[in-house]
Amino acid sequence: MTAVTELGYVRFGVSSLEEWRAFATDLVGLEIGDDSDPGRLYLRSDQWHHRIALEENGADDLIGAGLRVAGPAEFTAMQAHLSELGVPYEVAGDDVARDRHVLELLTLSDPAGIPLEIFHGPQVEAHRPFHPGRPMFSRFVTGDGGVGHVLVNHAGLEATYDFYRNLGMRGSLEYRMPMPDGSTAEFLFMHANARDHTFAFGVPTDGKHIHHIMLEVDHLDDVLLAHGIVSKSQYPITVPLGRHANDQTFSFYCKGPSGFQVEIGWGGRPATHQSEYYTRDTYRGPR
Ligand SMILES: [Fe+2]
Repeated sequence: MTAVTELGYVRFGVSSLEEWRAFATDLVGLEIGDDSDPGRLYLRSDQWHHRIALEENGADDLIGAGLRVAGPAEFTAMQAHLSELGVPYEVAGDDVARDRHVLELLTLSDPAGIPLEIFHGPQVEAHRPFHPGRPMFSRFVTGDGGVGHVLVNHAGLEATYDFYRNLGMRGSLEYRMPMPDGSTAEFLFMHANARDHTFAFGVPTDGKHIHHIMLEVDHLDDVLLAHGIVSKSQYPITVPLGRHANDQTFSFYCKGPSGFQVEIGWGGRPATHQSEYYTRDTYRGPR
């Protein structure tokens, strides 16, 4: 079966590029792409042209999650597969593909209306090393694992599982967490590669498509450095330092300029090949 291989890029609509510019570089350590223009900011975390595109349109939300397929043959096979399943999609014109800095793409929505873009052939700037927006001890973890992961809204975990399975992803419920009101919260995680998960579902998203995006760094000190910088900023820490049980990532979350959260983590383990679930995180510091 043809399958998506990574979350290659994400597109966010934002209210203020100016706030995002400062947040993304000075706090998070991302690099501004040098062909950004007044209405759009490209953010780099490796040698891709960009991993995050910000458009100043007031959405303050995810406006596109770019899922990669291996190449032209897989792109054609994915179209046949979606048609067979009866999933509506639209192959974008060359102008849109050029705008996204990919060779070809199609657009579709998941059952909750999450805007997805399946593409192949990202522009990689092999000539231009990644240069972080502020000093870092090491680097962002991308490669075959993609930009990171996103937790997004869902329209039922079963329908969501089926949809993403049909894109070639694997996963399962990974938490059944007792809640203070006596209910049990269930969270679904889907992976496309060795990264523990690419999409997560089950946490309320406050009317937005996205709850958070996770960016991974490959040195613990970069989590601690980012935590120190964010702690002194206007952007609140929303989830304190701690370790998730499923991906074993040591991370914290903060609320960025668009209201959705950004998680910065280190130490994620590879996706498991057999399902298992947890009832709580390994460790989470005081709020
Ligand atoms: Fe996360």
